[in-house]
Formats: sequence, structure tokens, C-alpha cells
Amino acid sequence: MQNKIVLAYSGGLDTSVLLKWLQQKYDAEVITVTLDVGQKEDLDAIEKKATKLGVLKHYSIDAKKEFVEKYVSQAIKANALYEGKYPVSTALSRPLIAEKLIEIALQEEANAIAHGCTGKGNDQVRIEVTAKALAPEIKIIAPVREWKMTRDAEIEFAKKHGIPIPVDVEKPYSVDQNLWGRSIECGILEHPDKEPPEDIFEWTVSPENTPDKPEYLEIEFEKGVPKGINGQTISPVDLIERVNQLAGKHGVGRIDHIENRLVGIKSREVYECPAATVIIEAHKDLEKLVLTRHEYSFKQQVDVLWANLVYTGLWMDPLKEDLDAFIDKTQERVCGRVKVKLYKGGLQVVGRSSPFSLYDIDLATYNIETTFDQMSSAGFIELWGLPTKVANALKRKKGAKKNV
Ligand code: ARG
Repeated sequence: MQNKIVLAYSGGLDTSVLLKWLQQKYDAEVITVTLDVGQKEDLDAIEKKATKLGVLKHYSIDAKKEFVEKYVSQAIKANALYEGKYPVSTALSRPLIAEKLIEIALQEEANAIAHGCTGKGNDQVRIEVTAKALAPEIKIIAPVREWKMTRDAEIEFAKKHGIPIPVDVEKPYSVDQNLWGRSIECGILEHPDKEPPEDIFEWTVSPENTPDKPEYLEIEFEKGVPKGINGQTISPVDLIERVNQLAGKHGVGRIDHIENRLVGIKSREVYECPAATVIIEAHKDLEKLVLTRHEYSFKQQVDVLWANLVYTGLWMDPLKEDLDAFIDKTQERVCGRVKVKLYKGGLQVVGRSSPFSLYDIDLATYNIETTFDQMSSAGFIELWGLPTKVANALKRKKGAKKNV
């Protein structure tokens, strides 16, 4: 029986070369799959290209709604920022891609799936761990890990096999984007001491060129998920697109940091994540208003763990599901409005309100008429500081002895 391989196809040079390579090396029939997760590519053009390259079948899937509802929404509830900075945008799309590849492989009775990830990154891990968790019997082929082709060799191969060369083939950058963010790698960016050149940015205006007047944005949350902006209810996909656009216009959401990859490499990563930056900041602020101090403190630890699991490809691990159960429970009261000010690359939360607010002005006010009994603080301080007081007394005693 002829091999049948389901390939995650972006339409770019790498995956096009890969398509031909799979057909030849494995004498395989290739089925291509392209997911629309909001990367703003021309899906029809991609389909045409795949057909031209002789695929058995091509699947174009609009996965934006599913991506937002199942993946992005959970990341918002978890305030997911890997190493405090990266909203795990690329990481979130990989388990979804793997899930679709496997679904189609089973449906088409294919014996393998293939992807174009390199052997140095996180994406290979995310796709393969998910695929193995779903259907361990399906083989996984990662040609880029084994073929060792340079860019020039790829172009040569493409020319030889009638693969159209993209117009931007000379661009030194590798870009991955979806609704939740845009990642830019390679070229000059591999030198962490050099400022990213302006031409890599597409979603955000440089703060030097943003409007001179600030803009306010009010986000309404329901159970931890944004449901509307500026008093209008809109669908989650549209909401994220709208916030990307508004915050991007004010230069908000540029991220430049050193990232610890799962495979042990430190890399310099540059992202544009306007909506993620704004929504997570607003969401965190609302949580502070409605969760108790104990809940908030514990949840911060859970959030770090959640982002680590997702970054490291463990979307399918039961621990993630366990954490989701905790997170979902806390989000029942994360309802309300957060007002954000966007100005010259900066973002500030300037107001918040909620029907579940735990803020009590009668307790908090410095006015004399307050329900807080200041006299009870003295006894509280005595007991709260007791262990510290005892430990320091002993330290002084030992110190004094040492000096004689
Ligand atoms: N460092 C980021 C991550 O691991 C971004 C990866 C971008 N991927 C890409 N294929 N260009 O999630």
C-alpha cells in the first residue's frame, strides 16, 4: 500500500519543499492541511499552491473560533505569560494543529503526519507530544530535522521541482502569527545586544509615531473571559482583532526578551502581542479586585505552572486539566469592567469595577469614620511578628557569645 502522509502546510517555501520531498522520499500521497488561526494569509492561494504541487487532497480549516474559545480564553484565565513576558501565542496554536492533523489522518486512513518544525525549537515538541497522546499508532515525520538543507539548497530544490518561490524569500526573518500574537526570529535578531530594526514590526506602530492623544478602552469580562469593549458585546474573535488593532495603533504590545527554550537553548525572542498584553493586564487587575488575598496568591503560582506546561508542549497532560479545574472555579467571580489607557507604547489600568468586588471603602478609607478597628492591629502585630522576634533574639544571643 502506498504511504499516505498528512502534512501541516503553511504555503511557505519550507513546507512546499517538504511536500515534494515527502512525495519523493516516501513515494507518498500527501494530504495538506492549513489552519486559519488568524494569521491573515490567503487561504485560497495556499490551497491553489498545494493543488499545483500534486497533493491528493487539501484541507483549509477556519479554526479561529475554536482557537480562541478553547485555547486563548484559557490562557487569559491563566494570565499566561511564559517567564513573565511571552503570552505563549505560538505555543497555544500547536496542540490545535496537532489535533487537526491527527483527526484528518485517522479519517483519511493515513499512516503518518508531517510538520516543518526544526529540531532546535519548541514547536516540534508541542506538535509531537500532542499527536502521540492522541494517536500513538500514527507515525510522525519531521523532515527539517534530518534533511540539513540550507536556504540556498531549498531554493535550488524548489526551482528544480517547479515550486513557486515566495517574493519575500530574501527576507531574513522567520515569522509565526495567529490572533494572539506575532513572533519574529532570525537575522539581526539573533544578536541580543542589537535593537530590533523597525521593519520587523507589522502590528504595532513605533511609540515615536503613535497618536499624541491617549485612548481609553473599557473591557468587560464575564467569568474571566472578555465579552465586550466600550459597552458593546462582540464575539471573542472580533474582540481580539479589535484590541490588537487599537493597542497596536498606540505601540502597545512589543516584547523583546531572552527566553529559555525547552531544548536547553537561550534565545532572543521578539513578539508583537497587543491584544494579549492589554487583556492579560486588565484580567489580572480584575482578579485582584474579586479574589481573596489567599486565592490570588495561590493562583499566581498556578498561573506560572500553567504557562510552563503549555510552553513545554504538555497541553494534553492531565496536570493541565487539573489546573484548569482550579482556574475555572476561580473565574466564576471574575466578572466586571476594566478601563485601560493606551498612550505612546504604554498601557495603564486606570479603573475597575465588579459586582463581586471585595473592595470595601468603609474598611479602606483613611477617614476617621471607618469600620476597621485600629486597636485590634496591636495584638495582631504581636502574634504575626512573634516567630521573627524570637528568631532574632536567638541570633543576637549567639552573636554576642561569638564576640567574647
Ligand atoms: N519562541 C516562541 C515559542 O517557542 C516562538 C516560536 C516561533 N515559531 C516559529 N515557527 N517561528 O513559542
